[in-house]
Amino acid sequence: MMKAVRGMRDVFGEEMATWQRVEQIFRTVSAAFGYHEFRTPMLEHTELFARGVGEGSDIVGKEMYTFLDRGGDSVTMRPEMTAPIVRAAIEHNILRHQPTSRLWYYGPLFRYERPQKGRYRQFHQFGAELLGSPHPEADAEIIMLAYETLRAVGAKLIEGVALEINTLGTASTREAYREALVQHFVAHRSTLSEDSQRRLDTNPLRILDSKHPDDQSLIADAPALRTYLDEAAHMHFDTVRLLLDAAGIPYTVNDRLVRGLDYYSHTVFEITTTQLGSQNAVCGGGRYDPLFEMVGGTPAPAVGFSIGVERLVLLLEQMEGGLQPPSRAQVAVIALAEEARLPAQLVALRLRRDGVSVITDVQRRSAKAQLNAAVKEQAQYAILLGTDELAAGTAMVKNLATASQETVSVERISPYLQQHLGVKAR
Ligand code: HAM
Repeated sequence: MMKAVRGMRDVFGEEMATWQRVEQIFRTVSAAFGYHEFRTPMLEHTELFARGVGEGSDIVGKEMYTFLDRGGDSVTMRPEMTAPIVRAAIEHNILRHQPTSRLWYYGPLFRYERPQKGRYRQFHQFGAELLGSPHPEADAEIIMLAYETLRAVGAKLIEGVALEINTLGTASTREAYREALVQHFVAHRSTLSEDSQRRLDTNPLRILDSKHPDDQSLIADAPALRTYLDEAAHMHFDTVRLLLDAAGIPYTVNDRLVRGLDYYSHTVFEITTTQLGSQNAVCGGGRYDPLFEMVGGTPAPAVGFSIGVERLVLLLEQMEGGLQPPSRAQVAVIALAEEARLPAQLVALRLRRDGVSVITDVQRRSAKAQLNAAVKEQAQYAILLGTDELAAGTAMVKNLATASQETVSVERISPYLQQHLGVKAR
């Protein structure tokens, strides 16, 4: 039997209702904040991620789907959306036309990770990027947009997540801190876990993220980033906190939060949950002022976040028993006689054009089997067309819940159903 590629999921049936619900919320909440949708291609030049996300990151180091296309160019299936958005902003000179650009996106991403619950090789993110502002108001706006999205998804859900924030200061603060960390850890290299030993060479800040028991005491003794921050970085972070406090958004400061991508500076944040086992991050983001320059553009400040949609859907289903029936057709048009089969299709098409959702029979079944199918679909009305009705230009409209029925002229079916189903006329 052919199966889907490992780590890649099919989404269908009842789960789809939850996806559609969250997708609707992404649109509504980002519109409320004045963000515009942006779509970029699934493939980018490999160099974009090598430079943007960073050679030292896990993503570039071992998780990318990279291949040579038929022309011999190295391309990569996007593992994240921030570098592509910045590439596009530079390419289309977006900041010159719109010095403050508010963009959102939703789509699939690819990372060759070890699959487990909440971690897949194809997954989806909803995210937003605010380009062009260096000020803490922008950081706060982005955190609020992430938070409000989760809040709109569910009252229970928002109570079950925690927002953690930190500041990494400027790129030079981060560099000085990186050196201090290397000095600290290198003396005890052999006691570190294997992963952390590797990170010591590639991305020492990431050692702070390690959950490995062997690393914990060394991490606890590591120098604190806080002591490396300059005055401006403190002021920026304090203002972000002030704005979040004023908005009543609860958070904790976690000075070990560093994030795994190389482009961050100043504010970083994550929204985590204890409900999904080890894959606890639902959302990650931060300010990434160095990125425009890293990928070859004129420097520009920016901040953003991404929410993992599979994790959000899992959480929602877990917390709210999220399973809802997929949306159903409201009406079934049923042919009671052979010669009514074609007219039934035409009545259905007319209703569909008027905004009513309708199924018809495509299996040439008996009238009884068609009626059973309508009941199984949980349709609210059946439109019955027999020889007499055809002759009279009418149909029998049957309310399937009450079993009451009425004869309605064919022209009147649409307004009749629109009124009874509360469908808006088009
Ligand atoms: P990230 O932390 O790599 O950040 O990913 C953000 C979110 O995507 C994670 O918190 C998680 O919910 C979800 N996610 C990541 N990997 C997987 C996976 N393999 N399976 C399922 N879900 C996953 C970024 O991608 C940055 N671009 C965020 C950002 C935007 N920073 C600034 N702007």
